[in-house]
Amino acid sequence: MLVSYASSLPAPLLERALIPDPYCLFAGPVILSSVKVLVVGSGGREHAICWKVAQSPLVAQLYAAPGNPGIAEIAECIPWDGSVWQLAEWAEAEGVELTLVGPEAPLVEGIADAFQARGLTLFGPVQKAAMIEGSKVFAKGLMERFGIPTARHKSFSDVLDALSYLEATGAPIVVKDSGLAAGKGVTVATTLHQAKQAAANILSGPEQAEIVIEEFLSGPEVTVLAVTDGVTIKPLLPSQDHKRLLDGDTGPMTGGMGAVCPYPLAPGVLTEIVERVLQPLVDGLRAEGIIYKGVIYAGLMLTDDGPRVLEFNARFGDPECQALLPLLETDLVELALAVVEGRLHELEIKWHTQAAACVVMAAPGYPDDPHKGLPLHLPALPPHGVLYFQAGTRKGPSGLLTHGGRVLNVVGLGNDLPGALERAYAGVKAVGFEQALYRRDIGRKIL
Ligand SMILES: Nc1ncnc2c1ncn2[C@@H]1O[C@H](COP(=O)(O)OP(=O)(O)O)[C@@H](O)[C@H]1O
Ligand SMILES: [Mg+2]
Repeated sequence: MLVSYASSLPAPLLERALIPDPYCLFAGPVILSSVKVLVVGSGGREHAICWKVAQSPLVAQLYAAPGNPGIAEIAECIPWDGSVWQLAEWAEAEGVELTLVGPEAPLVEGIADAFQARGLTLFGPVQKAAMIEGSKVFAKGLMERFGIPTARHKSFSDVLDALSYLEATGAPIVVKDSGLAAGKGVTVATTLHQAKQAAANILSGPEQAEIVIEEFLSGPEVTVLAVTDGVTIKPLLPSQDHKRLLDGDTGPMTGGMGAVCPYPLAPGVLTEIVERVLQPLVDGLRAEGIIYKGVIYAGLMLTDDGPRVLEFNARFGDPECQALLPLLETDLVELALAVVEGRLHELEIKWHTQAAACVVMAAPGYPDDPHKGLPLHLPALPPHGVLYFQAGTRKGPSGLLTHGGRVLNVVGLGNDLPGALERAYAGVKAVGFEQALYRRDIGRKIL
C-alpha cells in the first residue's frame, strides 16, 4: 500500500518520500509523511476537507487559512485577510507543497494564478477557468458554444431592456445576477412584478451589473461534482442540496440547508451528464486555451426533457462536500496531486458503500440577519456514525459561540439513506443550540 502512494507522487515529492530510512532494517523504500498542505477557507466545507486531508499518510503538516475553531482542532490556523497574493507569498516562505481551495471568491480572484506564479501546487482552477462560476453570462456563452443543455436565456445590462423583455415573457421566470452573490443573487419569480423588481434591484445599483433571465425549469435538482485535470474527467458521487430555508422547499433561498449523498440517479443519467455536460465543457475550454484543473460543480435540473444545467461552480458545493467526503475512500491528497499533475487517468476513485446525510444548523435570523454570539455546545463524543463540521463558529471565553449564518453541519453516516438520516438527526439532538434553524425534512423527497 505504501508503494502505491509512492508511485502516484509527482517527481519532486516522490524523491523526498523515498529517502532511505537509516533505522529501517528492510532494504525497501520508506514513505515519509512529507507533504505540507494548506486548506483555504473557513466554513463547513473546509472543515470537511481538512478532516479528510488530515487522514492522509502523506501529510506532514496541515495549515488552514483562516480556518475556524473546528478546523483548529486538526490544523494550524493562520490569520488571513483574503489577499491571494499575500497568501501565496506566505505559502512559498512556509514551504507549502499542496494547497486546496474551498470557496469560490479566491478562485475567481485568481488564487491559482498567484500560486502558479511562485511555482506552487494548488488544487483549483485558474481565474479564466473559474469564470464558469464568476460570470453566469460567461457560463451561458460557453454552454451555447459547446452545445451543453441548459435553460433558454438572454443576458442584459440595461434595466429598461430587461424590463421590456420580462413584459414579453411573463412569469414564472428566473432572474440571475451574473456575478458572485453568495447564493443570494437568484430570484425564481412566480409573478411578473417579482421578476421586474429583481431585475431592477440588480441593474439599477451603482455598480455595472449584468443579469441572466432564463426559462423556469422544473424537476428534481441534483448536484454532480467531478474532478478533472483538464483532459480526464471523473465524476464523484451525485448529491442533492436543499436550497430553501424551510421544510417543503419553502422560505427564502439560502447557501444550502442540507445534503444527501449519493443521490439515486436513474441508470445512465450520470454517464449522460458526463458526456453531454462535463466532457464538452472541459474539452471546449481546452480548445479555447483554458486548462481546467480542479473540481467542477454542475447544478442540474432533471427535467422531463433530460438534464439541464442550472449553473456551474468552480469548487466543491457547501453542504454537498460535507456529505460527500466522508464517503470517499481514496486519499484526497493523492487525488488532488493526480489532478494537478495531469495523472487523473491513472487513479481509480474508490468509495465507501454507505450513504451520508448532512443537516445544516443555522442561527436564528438566517439568512438575512443571523444572531451572533449565541452559545453552542457540542457533545464531547459525537453519537455513533455522526460527524460535526463547524462553519460560523468562534471560541468564546467559556465555549463555542455562533458567528455566522450557517453554524454547524451535522453529518450522519449509515448503510442506506434512512440510516444516515436517522444518525444525522440523532446528531442534531445531541447539540446544545437554542433557537437553531434547521430543516426536519432533509432527504425526504428521495425517500
Ligand atoms: N431555470 C431555473 N428554473 C427553476 N429554478 C431555478 C432555475 N435556475 C435556478 N433555479 C433555482 O435557483 C437556485 C439558485 O440558482 P443557481 O443558478 O444555482 O445560482 P446560485 O447558486 O449562484 O444562487 C437553484 O439551486 C434552483 O433551485
Ligand atoms: Mg447554485
